[in-house]
Amino acid sequence: MFLSGKNILIGITGGIAAYKVYELIRKLTKEGANVRVVLTPSALDFVTPTVLSTLTGNTPYWEWDYKKPLIHIELAKWADVFLVAPATINTISKLANGIADNLLTATWFACDKPKLVAPAANTVMFTDPIIQENLRKLQKVGVEIIPTESGLLACGDLGEGKLADIDLIRDYLVKSLTPQRWSGKKVLITLGATKEYLDPVRFISNGSSGKMGLALAKAIFYQGGEPLLVVGDVRVEIPKWFKALRVETTEEMLSACLELFPRVDAVFMNAAVTDYRFEKTFDRKLKKKEEELLVRLVPTPDILAELGKRKGNQILVGFAVETDHLVENATKKLQRKNLDAIVVNPAKVMGSDTYEGVLITKSGLVEEIKTPTKEEGAFYITQRVAELFFDL
Ligand SMILES: Cc1cc2nc3c(=O)[nH]c(=O)nc-3n(C[C@H](O)[C@H](O)[C@H](O)COP(=O)(O)O)c2cc1C
Repeated sequence: MFLSGKNILIGITGGIAAYKVYELIRKLTKEGANVRVVLTPSALDFVTPTVLSTLTGNTPYWEWDYKKPLIHIELAKWADVFLVAPATINTISKLANGIADNLLTATWFACDKPKLVAPAANTVMFTDPIIQENLRKLQKVGVEIIPTESGLLACGDLGEGKLADIDLIRDYLVKSLTPQRWSGKKVLITLGATKEYLDPVRFISNGSSGKMGLALAKAIFYQGGEPLLVVGDVRVEIPKWFKALRVETTEEMLSACLELFPRVDAVFMNAAVTDYRFEKTFDRKLKKKEEELLVRLVPTPDILAELGKRKGNQILVGFAVETDHLVENATKKLQRKNLDAIVVNPAKVMGSDTYEGVLITKSGLVEEIKTPTKEEGAFYITQRVAELFFDL
């Protein structure tokens, strides 16, 4: 959806991680992107033109010939974005120093579109001060350097320099093609359900999946912001590159939020907090008995209201699920909790893949949202909040 119809040019260099580009190409074309590749001559030792041509549906290029003498200009003009992955330290250094001695490097300098580099090399090679200086040089002229991972490298060493996860590279490509409305902003996002324990193995909770919260986090990342996640019980995998604090109870979620709140520019309180806890809890598992067990439930802290009381310049966005009088009920909640905006969803949205909701702001704007996916819904909400509350 985010990459549909986009022209993505991938430069492949002679690193051992080059085989991972096959998987990346599959991912991008499945999302509807058009992919073309340009290689350095040494990349041909690591990937084959036949596979690349099959996966992209386009001819891969690695040298000039008389039939296509201006292929570097053609590729550069065609591209909406140019990614070099994996980028060897050799090619990184050429790109940082204006060396255009092969088709890939010449295409790079002919291209004035967003550019990204995903380095991959042995730790000692990667952390060499000259290479780090070259990466900084590229960054200074606006090239996005996709962070490497630390882990077991192909050479058997353990350390920094592993090619970024394919999903993260994909997310950076989306970012490069998206207006940076959240640039420089830190955003607290809560997601999932909190749990309230009766004894060590029994609890009450709810069916929140965390899907929408994760979609909000990704939407903030695509638009240049830094999401900080407070994650309850979720049924989605949280990518390891997100900063995330795991919590279980409402009380734990509250203290994590209070700690992060002074450091953030906005909050999307998307978690489904369990509103009640057991008044009396047990340290040991309760034995099964024939007779009734009566328990008393007492309210858990209201995290949004607590943040509302402490609000400075932060934009505070709440989420609500209602079965009736959506706008009326949500507006009351917005006022009572000192929110800037609230998004109210009909109950049927829970667990569904499509998205439906109403965005209400403190100034009285009421806007209906209906999108085919939660990702699009989350993107729309974050985009509108930025438009409405930040000076662009
Ligand atoms: C098996 C093998 C694996 C290599 N892996 C890497 C690598 O991961 N990163 C890197 O910077 N260089 C790596 N190299 C070295 C590059 O291939 C070499 O520096 C080459 O000149 C890079 O050329 P290019 O940047 O034009 O593709 C590897 C070499 C070999 C033989």
